[in-house]
Amino acid sequence: MNICMIGAGYVGLVSAACLSEFGWKVACIDKDASRVESLNRGEVPIYEPGLDDLLKRNIEGGRITFSTDLGPAIKSADLVFLAVGTPMRRGDGYADLSYVYSAVEEIAAHLDGFTVITTKSTVPVGTSREIERRLRSIRPDSDFAVCSNPEFLREGSAIRDFMHPDRILVGSDDERAKVVMERLYQPLALRDAPLMFVTRESAELAKYAANAFLALKISFINEVADLCEDLGADVQEVAKAIGKDGRIGDKFLHPGPGYGGSCFPKDVSALIRTAREARSPLSIIEQVQTVNDERKIAMGMRIEKAANGSVRDKRIAILGVTFKPNTDDMREAPSLTIVPLLQERGATVVVYDPQGRAHGEELLPGVTWCSDAMSACEGADVAVILTEWNEFRALNLSAVKEAMRGDVMVDLRNVFQASEATSSGLEYHSIGRVH
Ligand code: NAD
Ligand code: UGA
Repeated sequence: MNICMIGAGYVGLVSAACLSEFGWKVACIDKDASRVESLNRGEVPIYEPGLDDLLKRNIEGGRITFSTDLGPAIKSADLVFLAVGTPMRRGDGYADLSYVYSAVEEIAAHLDGFTVITTKSTVPVGTSREIERRLRSIRPDSDFAVCSNPEFLREGSAIRDFMHPDRILVGSDDERAKVVMERLYQPLALRDAPLMFVTRESAELAKYAANAFLALKISFINEVADLCEDLGADVQEVAKAIGKDGRIGDKFLHPGPGYGGSCFPKDVSALIRTAREARSPLSIIEQVQTVNDERKIAMGMRIEKAANGSVRDKRIAILGVTFKPNTDDMREAPSLTIVPLLQERGATVVVYDPQGRAHGEELLPGVTWCSDAMSACEGADVAVILTEWNEFRALNLSAVKEAMRGDVMVDLRNVFQASEATSSGLEYHSIGRVH
């Protein structure tokens, strides 16, 4: 099967690499020429564990190619994936579909023979139908079907998530397209991954509903963490206890500085817009968004409180600035709210992140970047764990305390045990736990 993947970002590149691993021939198209050039030099433009090796193997095997030229890839494709960005539109919070529709226009010009076109990008309900309408009006002569195949992978564990999905969701009302999609995912179905065929509207809405529900779990546990502090309970014990109930589940109950990333904030916002427009508001999800926005600011203030009420002229070491570990993605990271807040209040901020510097330098003006966690802590009054990179778990806290000028550690991810931190001489603050 010949596949054309439009968009070589986090989702497009990972999906293309995994599909080529199944043996399919994948032409990966991106309009960003520098991205394509670097891929053709064998350099992977994003940090995603395992992706280098997977791409190398399939490039060498001749199963994956990269180009800015969409024409030949569409002509020979049985299946075209749209994996371009659908960011939050400025002003109204709705999904910006301009990248999707401009790619659709480009596709239309080159369609040749029966082609399945499927959205992998997260798109609002009705988008697949609208893509079909646009293609039909540009190319009434062409033979195609439009499906929705939302992607559920997470950054940082993207390959594992793609290769071992909880489900594969395909929205389609075209029998020929269903056959193509069934064949495409056969390698995963053989490993017992459930392949679900639903309507296009259900597939599109299920993607948003899944992200909104996960965001809800996070905002819920963040509020419970605050309550734990007030009532003298331990949020980790509470999360573990409720997570044992199969109806609740133990995933996505880690309190933190608020969810970030390229998806939850924009998808929650887009779903709120869709629901309001449909006059069926999701008030619970509106509250999730408010709780999360306030959470990021509250965590900045919490650092200030821990620094004896003021960060003015204090040196704050921030460990981790990406929105989660194992990625270089800084989109909507809590650090983008917390660091400027500390700077506005007069702090000097020094930062270390294992992968965040490339994107972070532009997004976090005025900070000093360090090459490792210990150098960031050198002379700091306060050390803050903002992203739970594994390497921070191995920090020698006595050495951290020794290197610092002050002794305050604010652990916004509950990486350490209070007893371990305090016995190292640190004044330790964490989330939802009473020390
Ligand atoms: P991204 O910004 O990393 O990548 C998008 C890529 O598309 C860019 O490289 C851009 O240059 C390219 N592009 C845009 N218009 C193009 C065009 N006309 N032709 C060719 N290339 C074009 O975005 P992403 O994080 O990969 O997300 C893509 C979509 O997948 C979004 O809708 C997102 O919500 C969804 N999604 C993302 C994740 C994730 O973990 N990042 C997971 C599931 C779903
Ligand atoms: C999320 C979903 O988990 C994926 O299923 C989905 O495909 C993707 O969005 C998407 O639509 O793009 P991702 O944003 O990569 O994936 O990362 P997550 O692991 O979900 O983390 C998102 C944010 O929530 C991070 O800031 C993380 O720190 C935070 N989080 C997560 C918590 O604060 N607590 C938790 O228990 C879990």
